[in-house]
This record gives sequence, C-alpha cells and structure tokens, in this order.
Amino acid sequence: MSGTQWTRIEEILDGKKTDKAIHLRGWIHRTRSSGNIVFTIIRDATGTLQATIKKDNLPENEFEDSKKALIESSVEIKGTVKRDDRAPDGFELQVTGFKIVNFAEPFPIVKDQSPEFLLDQRHLWIRSQKLSAVLKIRSTIVGAIHEFFRNNGYYEFDAPILQPNQCEGGSTLFEVKYYDNKIYLSQSWQLYAEAAVFSLEKIYNMGPTFRAERSKTSRHLSEFWMAEMEIAWADLHDVTEIAKDEIRFILNKVLKHNKRELNILDQDIKKLQLIAKSEFPTITYTKAIDILNKKENMNVKWGKDLRTLEENKLMDHFETPVVVTNYPIEIMAFYKPRDPKDPKTALCFDMIAPGGYGEIVGGSQRSLDVEDMKQRLKEQGEKTKNYEWYFDLRRYGSVPHVGYGLGVERVVAWICGIDNIKDAIPFPRTLIRFRP
Ligand code: 4AD
Ligand code: MG
Repeated sequence: MSGTQWTRIEEILDGKKTDKAIHLRGWIHRTRSSGNIVFTIIRDATGTLQATIKKDNLPENEFEDSKKALIESSVEIKGTVKRDDRAPDGFELQVTGFKIVNFAEPFPIVKDQSPEFLLDQRHLWIRSQKLSAVLKIRSTIVGAIHEFFRNNGYYEFDAPILQPNQCEGGSTLFEVKYYDNKIYLSQSWQLYAEAAVFSLEKIYNMGPTFRAERSKTSRHLSEFWMAEMEIAWADLHDVTEIAKDEIRFILNKVLKHNKRELNILDQDIKKLQLIAKSEFPTITYTKAIDILNKKENMNVKWGKDLRTLEENKLMDHFETPVVVTNYPIEIMAFYKPRDPKDPKTALCFDMIAPGGYGEIVGGSQRSLDVEDMKQRLKEQGEKTKNYEWYFDLRRYGSVPHVGYGLGVERVVAWICGIDNIKDAIPFPRTLIRFRP
C-alpha cells in the first residue's frame, strides 16, 4: 500500500487521532471472537491497542480472515479511533478494513512457560512486551553513553577484538584459532586505550567483551557489552566522579524517554528519580569490611574479594550506587598501581548498584611501574615478552592516566529491575547457552 499514511499506536494513545480514520499495521497480540464480533489487541513497536471488528463494518472475507487469524499474524487494518474508557489503554479502533499480511501458525509460546523454554524460543520471545520494554530502555542507555562522552569532549576509539594478551586474568580468556596461532577474544578495550590516550587524551568506546565465566550466576554473561573510558592527566578521584555523573546522566535519559517501559516492567520510577538527583557516596574497601563485620555481624577477612553475598549485605546500607575504592592489591589485576598512602591497597574502584545488582562499573588508575607489572604478570604465569608493546607506553612520555569500564547489561538489569542479566541482552551467551 504505497502512499498510505500509517499511524503508529503511540500517536493514538497520545490522543492525536481521536475520531479520525486511520491505517495501522502491526501484529495480533491477543484475539477472541464471539459470533459477529472479534476483539483483538494489535501491537506495533510503539504500543498496543484494542481493535473491535464487527461483521457489518467490513467486507465478509475480511471479517472471516480476522476470525481465523491467530496471534502473531501480521495485519494491515483501517478504522476509526474512538476514546473508550473500558479499553485497556483508553482507546479503541473500530475496524472497517482488515488485511492479513501473514497468517501465523500456532505460536509456541503460551502462558507460564519455564525460563529455559523461553530462552530456547528467544527469537520469538523477543516480541514479548517485557523484552521489548527492556530493549527500548537498553537503546536509550546505549545512546546516553555515547552522548555523555561526546558532550564532554571524548573521542570514540576502537580497539581490536582479537587480542594476543589478557587484561583481566588468564582464567576467563576465550581462545580462538587464528590461522596457525592462538589468540583471544577481547576481555577489555583498556590496554589499547592506554596506547591511544597519549594521542587523544580523552577516549571512550562501547563494544562486545568476552569472558569465559565458569559459574552460573544471575550477573555474568560470556558475551557482554562494556562501555569503557580512558583519560590522561587524571587520577582516581577524578574518574570516580565522572563515573557517578555518567550513571546519573543515563538515569535521567531513561526517566525522560522510557516512563511507559518502566511501568510495563513495574519499576519504581520515584526511586530512580531520587537516585538520579543524589550524590553517591565513596567509601574504601576497608570501610566496607568494617560495615559488614560491625553492622552485619559478618566475619569477612580483610584481603578477601567482595562476593555477591557481601556486596548485597553492604548495599542494604545504601539507597544509591556506592563507589568502593582501594581493594587489596593482591586480588587486583596487574595494571592497578599500589596506593602510596596505603600500600596494601590499589588505586582502584568498583561502583556497586543498590538492590542486589552488584558491580556495575570497575576502574583504576594505571600503573606506571614497568618492573612491578612484570613481576605481577610473572606471578600469574604470563610471558612478559608479550606485553613489551604495553610497557613501551610507559617509556615514551608516560603521564598519569585512569579509566573504567561500565557493564552495559548490569546497568540495564539494574535500571529495569529485572532478576537475571540474561534478559538485559537480546541473545544471551552463558556457560550453558549459545543458541539461538
Ligand atoms: O571490572 P572489570 O573486569 O574491568 C575491566 O575490564 C577494566 N579493564 C575496565 C577498564 O578499566 N577499562 O569489568 C568492568 C565491568 C564490571 O564492573 C561489570 O559491570 C562488567 O564490566 N562485567 C560483566 N558484565 C556481565 N558479564 C560479565 N561476565 C562481566 N564481567 C564484567
Ligand atoms: Mg571488576
């Protein structure tokens, strides 16, 4: 139907088409008929709308088609928009024409199916209201990240995905056969960013990131998207403030553009609004251990990494995300430098989200001490020869620099209030799942 003016459902729900004759295309979300009347809910990318099809209002064959059509059939319909307080969204389309684009076969997804079944049917489940809402919010978040950095004078810089080195520890590397060599999928953009930061000074990127996580958790994916930044002439304090600003910027964008989706997900909008206006505290790891041991009566030894349990207990004491700095040097990646003021700890930070979503951002100052990095890599069984290019960066006009990575799916899961990180990405990859 070239030349047809197609109306989108959101225009109808915004009241812009009341009492007008319109053309609409989309999919049948629900349908039931009784005698000479069919009630359907039509969806398009922008919303859902009740459509009432009465036998006398349209050609006989079109009415018969509307009766036969199963859910997920694609349709082009015309009709008049009426305000109707009984309809779920306050509007109804009185149909005068109904054309089937594709009669759907019986849809395999019905109510109350197991999460695993829904993951097997992900290519179809992606049409669900819930996943569509998450994907729209994800799109806002990704857009906001680009906007935040571009507004603040950062260049977008791309690093290779196929990399010869580890960045975050050998145990989570994915090996790839590379002609006659062995190479790895990127665990982080960082090491290459550290090369570029001496040219561009302020850079960022968002890209696919790979970690062979050998445990099943609700926070880990094997393939996820990380939004990273690196900046020259800055220190740990500077960068934790940038991370806080970025998170607030993202929240404000979602609150501006996605109220409808947050409502579909039953998310507490007021709570998010409050967080978007708040200062986020910064505490040290040592202080966090103190809270756990004194206020939660736990017995966490100084030196142990914070696991899910500890992070969750800690966050019972905060309403907003919290930055935790100065983790024990022993449990930190080779490039995180010692804090001269507190040498048992590193100049590093994690930002932990409230509500059990765990670490959403991780970053650090970067070590400038080649000998110390070599030593730490050796202790991990790494061949330091492979890192000579990285050490070169310290040999030719090195300056203090710092950066962090934000886990896009962690932030999506937290802002959407969904239980499992798998629903924060369209086609999740985990220890046990790589299909469809
Ligand atoms: O803390 P991580 O490991 O930091 C880095 O990779 C640094 N090289 C980043 C940098 O400084 N440029 O990862 C950063 C963030 C974490 O805070 C977490 O939000 C997310 O990435 N993340 C994961 N998200 C989903 N699944 C996984 N398996 C993740 N591993 C890390
Ligand atoms: Mg981390």
